[in-house]
Amino acid sequence: MDTAAADPPSATYDRIGIGYSEIRRPDPRLHALIGQALKGARTVVNVGAGTGSYEPEGVSVTAVDPSEVMLGQHLGTNKVKAAAEALPFTDGSFDTAMAIMTVHHWPDLHRGLGELRRVADRQVVFTWDPTHRTELWLLEEYLPEIRELDHARFTPVTEVADALDAHTVTPFSIPHDFTDGFQCAYWRRPECYLDPIIRQASSTFAQLPPSVVEPAIARLRSDLDSGTWHRRHADLLGQQSMDYGYRLLIAGR
Ligand SMILES: C[S@@+](CC[C@H](N)C(=O)[O-])C[C@H]1O[C@@H](n2cnc3c(N)ncnc32)[C@H](O)[C@@H]1O
Repeated sequence: MDTAAADPPSATYDRIGIGYSEIRRPDPRLHALIGQALKGARTVVNVGAGTGSYEPEGVSVTAVDPSEVMLGQHLGTNKVKAAAEALPFTDGSFDTAMAIMTVHHWPDLHRGLGELRRVADRQVVFTWDPTHRTELWLLEEYLPEIRELDHARFTPVTEVADALDAHTVTPFSIPHDFTDGFQCAYWRRPECYLDPIIRQASSTFAQLPPSVVEPAIARLRSDLDSGTWHRRHADLLGQQSMDYGYRLLIAGR
């Protein structure tokens, strides 16, 4: 494994985060679900905020991220360069802490989750569950190396829920035209995985060496050209959304 294997965790997005907001466009359906969970909050801290996707409007939001490249693309005015494990705020500073598709990047998950509980009354976390059974065809048929990486980075949702003392865990099925280009986004649009810019916006892809990714993508291209992929996945083409294990957790008040 080359490149990011040697990155300190917070530096990954300084390397791969350029152009993030073009491919990782917040999806309105996920935005609505997260908006419901944030309802009533007047002060929000967005930890691992990146470019600010899914932040509520009309609410005071403090964006926290260790990556300058990501914070540089965030349009807000209240931005703090810090990591989840050491939030520079006093206890109970915010109504709600949100953490969207970020907890798998934290070197010390439990410490980070403890910090969310310390600085806010409510916690809203969106993540992926590695124990979920339905797996994206890309991993099964082309890139099992993604499975290895993701299973090492993501923590079972039951463990995250226990650490937060979450009272609600909501599944989120990915619509076929989902706009936020994380890994499973293109489950019904396989040709998108051929695009290196789309792949770069997914941290797992970005961490795999070209010697692994390129032959797999060449096989996918060949299967798309020959119609093999479409024959094999005819069942998926009729689906509107798929549950690949993404979950929204809510804890606290
Ligand atoms: C996939 S992006 C998600 C960004 C945003 N929340 C979103 O939904 O688009 C993951 C973010 O987590 C940040 N991150 C990495 N390590 C972190 C840490 N220890 N504490 C807080 N954020 C971290 C990265 O810099 C990156 O901006």
